[in-house]
This record gives sequence, C-alpha cells and structure tokens, in this order.
Amino acid sequence: MRYPNPLQLNTGGSADSVASWEGQRREELLSEFRENVYGQSLPLPTEQTFDVTEAEVDGIVRRNVTISVTGPEGTGSFDLRLFLPKADRPPLGTFLMIDHRGSVGDSPSASSDYAPIPTITEAGYAFAQIDAEQIAPDESDGYRSPIIDLFHPEGEDLPDDAGRAISAWAWGASRAMDYLETDPDIDPARVAVIGHSRGGKASLWAGAQDTRFAAVISNNSGSTGAKPARRGDGGVGAETVERINDSFPHWFPQTYRAFDGDEDALPVDQHELLALVAPRRIVVASATDDANADPEGEFLSYVAASRVYDLYGLGDTGLPSPDWKPATDTGFRGPAMSYHLRSGGHGLTAADWRTYLDGDLFSREPSGDGRR
Ligand code: GCU
Repeated sequence: MRYPNPLQLNTGGSADSVASWEGQRREELLSEFRENVYGQSLPLPTEQTFDVTEAEVDGIVRRNVTISVTGPEGTGSFDLRLFLPKADRPPLGTFLMIDHRGSVGDSPSASSDYAPIPTITEAGYAFAQIDAEQIAPDESDGYRSPIIDLFHPEGEDLPDDAGRAISAWAWGASRAMDYLETDPDIDPARVAVIGHSRGGKASLWAGAQDTRFAAVISNNSGSTGAKPARRGDGGVGAETVERINDSFPHWFPQTYRAFDGDEDALPVDQHELLALVAPRRIVVASATDDANADPEGEFLSYVAASRVYDLYGLGDTGLPSPDWKPATDTGFRGPAMSYHLRSGGHGLTAADWRTYLDGDLFSREPSGDGRR
C-alpha cells in the first residue's frame, strides 16, 4: 500500500521542521480533510451560555450543563454531564466522551463497561459526556438537526462539502471543551476526547482540529477513523469508503462519495489525521477480532503517524517493532503516542478503560503515575 507522505508540502518540498509543519503543512491537511472527508465544520456560535446544576449521586458530584448556542437562524441547546472524582485533590485529568449510544445517565452507578463512571472517578479522573444524538441524529435520512439548523437555513439543502453527523459531533466536543475551560474543578490542559467506533471517528476529527485536547483516543474507530482508506477491505472484509458512504450517508459530506472505489485519488489518508494530533498524545486502540475496522491497518496508521511526531522528537511509538502484529493485551506507550491491541471483538470494554486509566496519558514522562 502507498501511504501519502504527511510531510510532503502541496507547494513542493517537505515540511522538515516544526515551524513548516505548524505554519503550512498542518493547515494544508486540515483543509483537505474538510473538503474531501469530514466536510466543513459548523461555525463558532455567535453566542454561547452554560447553565449548570449540581447534585451529589452515590457520593460523586455530578454537574449537568445545558450548553446553549446561537447561530444566524436561532438558539438551541444540548447537554453535558460531568462527574468528578471524590478525592480532595484536583482530578488527574478528564475524559470527555462523544457518546453515540446515549448510554450515560444521571446516576454513575447505572454505568456500563463502555462508560464505567465509578471506575474512572475512583482512579482519580473526571468523566464528561455529550450525547451525540442531541447534536445530530444518527439516522440515514436525518442529517439535519435543531443544532445544524441554527447555522443552515431550514429547507435549504446543505452544500455538498458541508459536514454531517461526524463533523457535528466533533464540533459538539469542542463546545463541551468551551465549558470545561470554565469549570473551576477541571484543568483544561488535561482533557482527553474519547470515542468508540463512530464516536472514535468523531473524537479523532475533534482532536485533529481543536488543539485544546491534550489527548485524543480512538477506540476501534475503523473506516474513516484510524484505518487507512487505501487499504480497501484490508483483505479481511473491512469497511471501505464506498461501503461506509452507502451504509451511513448521513456521516460525511457528499464530496466524500467521489472516492467510492477510488481511494487512491484521496489527497489524504487517515495516518495523516492521527498525525494532526501531534505533539499532543494520540491513543489508538484496536481489537483482534474487529475485522470491519481493520486492526492491522489501524496499527500501520499509528506507526506511519510517528513521522510527524518525530519532528518534535516524540516519534517513539512505544512499540518494540513497527511490524504487525504486536503483543495483544499490552499497553505500548511512548512520550506522546499510545497503542494497544485488545483480544476480542469490537467494543469499548473494561480492559480498554484499564489501559487508558493506567496509561498516564497526560504526561510525557516515560512512565509513572502522572500524579501532580
Ligand atoms: C458500523 C460501521 C462502523 C462503525 C460501527 C460503530 O459497524 O460499519 O464504521 O465504526 O458501526 O460505530 O460501532
């Protein structure tokens, strides 16, 4: 497979320094991803307010925040839930989940392996969640939503290059970050955006664009997440660009359809999305039996992204070898890159969370417990 070189400038030559990466190449890639893959993002709200209520549930402080945003067509809102650890010292960091399953309720004890709130808070971290469906519905005929309609006149078709659900979810994570920056108990320099599968595609896109996220977690994100498009079905029946566009026409802009069956024509590939997180921490997690997501492809993408981390002297992937297949159920951690391959199928499980909670994600030190 031919990977585009992430450092190759569109104007010729190579971005061989942090200055040319940040000053030119990064912007080139972001605009190519916007035009061809994820679509143009919703603009910043002209006005934004946060309405916070607090309660203590099962000994855990929970804040429910109504985020109200205003665009040219009016004002709408969506919710953020924030759960704080009990400890009397500041949280070690915050996991902000783009939750596409609507599976987080007001009670932390009603949580699941996918969002194990008591485990997360007991480990000393805060947990925040936005419900993706409140921002854009996950329905193939419903890519409009009250939030999208604040910025696009109702009754008018979205432009072909307008982002749809995945882009809107990523935008929602940035609005959640706007709130977290104001919360007295949260250190905004230690926020990880996390998503599983379709949520992982959105968390990568959020983290690529919004440099406030100190860590970006892709859990089994697969096609149009960490998996390189050019691998096609990866020889294992993985989801191709054509298949994802056919099955989920509400996730990406119309412009992405031009690459159905023609991935080589894409000006970018997904390792460059991971690279856009540099020098912040990128976390890629795959599962051995998750063929649809192409675990080998996700691994190769992770390794290929290190080329950009190298510019910062942070290209150590933590892996003993750049060759597939690494040991399973082992967390590999470099100063700014983390990877694990869980045995089993598609999912965000207790084992994945254990790797994140033990993974010292907010530190560049070789190891340690990350405590301040
Ligand atoms: C489907 C889809 C994937 C997606 C997954 C999920 O399997 O093909 O692209 O990641 O759903 O969100 O669980």
